[in-house]
Amino acid sequence: MNVLILGSGGREHAFAWKIAQSKQLENLYIAPGNAGTAQCGTNLPVSVTDFDAIKNIVWEKNIDMVVVGPEDPLVKGIHDYFLKDDVLKDVAVIGPKKDGAQLEGSKDFSKQFMMKHGVPTARYKSFTKQNIDEGASFLESLKPPYVLKADGLAAGKGVLIINDIEEAKQELKNMILNSKFGNAGNTVVIEEFLDGIELSVFVLTDGKSYKLLPAAKDYKRIGVGDTGLNTGGMGAVSPVPFANDAFLKKVEEQIVKPTINGLVKEGIDYRGFIFIGLMNCDGEPKVIEYNCRMGDPETEVVIPRIESDLLDLLQGVATQTLHNKQYKTVNDTATTVVLVSGGYPEDYEKGKVISGLSNTPLHQHIFHSGTTLKNDDVVTNGGRVFALTSFGKNIEEATSRSFELAKQIQYDGKYYRNDIGKDLINWIKNNQ
Ligand code: AMP
Ligand code: GLY
Repeated sequence: MNVLILGSGGREHAFAWKIAQSKQLENLYIAPGNAGTAQCGTNLPVSVTDFDAIKNIVWEKNIDMVVVGPEDPLVKGIHDYFLKDDVLKDVAVIGPKKDGAQLEGSKDFSKQFMMKHGVPTARYKSFTKQNIDEGASFLESLKPPYVLKADGLAAGKGVLIINDIEEAKQELKNMILNSKFGNAGNTVVIEEFLDGIELSVFVLTDGKSYKLLPAAKDYKRIGVGDTGLNTGGMGAVSPVPFANDAFLKKVEEQIVKPTINGLVKEGIDYRGFIFIGLMNCDGEPKVIEYNCRMGDPETEVVIPRIESDLLDLLQGVATQTLHNKQYKTVNDTATTVVLVSGGYPEDYEKGKVISGLSNTPLHQHIFHSGTTLKNDDVVTNGGRVFALTSFGKNIEEATSRSFELAKQIQYDGKYYRNDIGKDLINWIKNNQ
């Protein structure tokens, strides 16, 4: 098979690394890719939302399957674009059509979906210009902190968590009337704050059956001890110690099955990954959000823990034969530590020459995120630069390996969180 992966982050490098190991693969292309994906296949300089240019690649390279990494092309309808085109309609696309991508593309849609199909989530109400006056009284009916979410995609920045009620009322106005998050905030979801520990669960579905992929926890804030600004993710751990078999059984029965059945009932033919952001509220799982794709950096721990042939599983998704596919995971712990550019998630410089990339020890993977090749050098090209994944018999062993690798790699302005996994190590100590 000839496969094209769309995207340029650590998630796409992890996909490329895994798919490159498949016996079913002939040629692998990544658009636009990074310096890491160039080691697994051929990078092509095309944007993930330039559907016409993607069509040309698919035609020229005789592509059989397109694996869509990020949400943007899915929400913009890349899968629908393929189905409507005579040349492309038989090419497999891994990722939902526009209707399914609304699970991420519209928080209002996803909340309505959860309510309709009995998926446990925070109590909420949606507001627009028309009913903004009712926003203040809804806020008053909730306890602080107040959670305000822009309905549409806002590059991961559309969620505000505010302690002060007057400030919350003001921000509701800023979002709806002053377009704080552009059109994404024309509708605002206000919801109850969920107190608990967060984790993510991943599902691969062909629209009929599903495989529950390994769960992971990520670290969203820039600073040690979960402080400072939100980022795309500074590290991840899988499996998650507090997500034991009993908890995961609840997740499967109360959340995954109603979600898959709900999609079927709505007539949404969903073929791809579903990322379910959850809160563990005293042992009860509640959904914070759905994403219509894998997480980054969670993919960099989830995919290495899948022992089976990923391309074979993806073919099962495309042909709705996932139930027949062999699926096995490894029990060892995988952790990833993200190296970022100094200044991230605010302004940062690019083009810093990177050294120390040779000699990756056994059981470790350097997944590239924001890197590119300049002449013969690998240089920084984004906020998140690498995800350093290691295996170990427990979180201590795996993270200590990732931290060693973090020290070995050098570039100007390198920063990483040296406390990835520490909260979980403490959790284990306190719960033994
Ligand atoms: P989202 O973009 O929906 O993932 O929200 C970003 C982050 O805000 C989540 O990862 C949570 O940490 C937090 N968050 C969102 N909704 C809630 C909620 N209802 N209660 C508590 N925290 C929340
Ligand atoms: N790590 C969170 C995300 O991919 O959205």
